[in-house]
Amino acid sequence: MVFGLFKKKEPVKVTIKSTGDEFMCEPGELLMKAALRNKIAWPLSCKVGSCGSCRATILEGEGKYPPSPCDPVMILYKEEMDKGMVIACQWTPTTDIVVDVEVGAEGDKRGMV
Ligand code: FES
Repeated sequence: MVFGLFKKKEPVKVTIKSTGDEFMCEPGELLMKAALRNKIAWPLSCKVGSCGSCRATILEGEGKYPPSPCDPVMILYKEEMDKGMVIACQWTPTTDIVVDVEVGAEGDKRGMV
């Protein structure tokens, strides 16, 4: 299993449930950044984890928040996090995911902008 430690990380597939759009997210790439690179009209505003506009719910798959000076989970209510909601401009998938997001919407800014 030592060789597994050196295994190259692969891109993961992101599927948007509402539109059926699919795109690849590079290892360590933030979800919203990958969406924008693929011309998806992801709701956004600040892009730094402080407004909450980019919220999305992960229906399948897993991911993580890389180290950041912001604490994006301060924007989310516990019930939302329990349902899989993430701040997409600060979160990166680590497996293939299916996500629920309102593509094309302006986004509901709830944090400080
Ligand atoms: S765009 Fe503002 S928190 Fe993500």
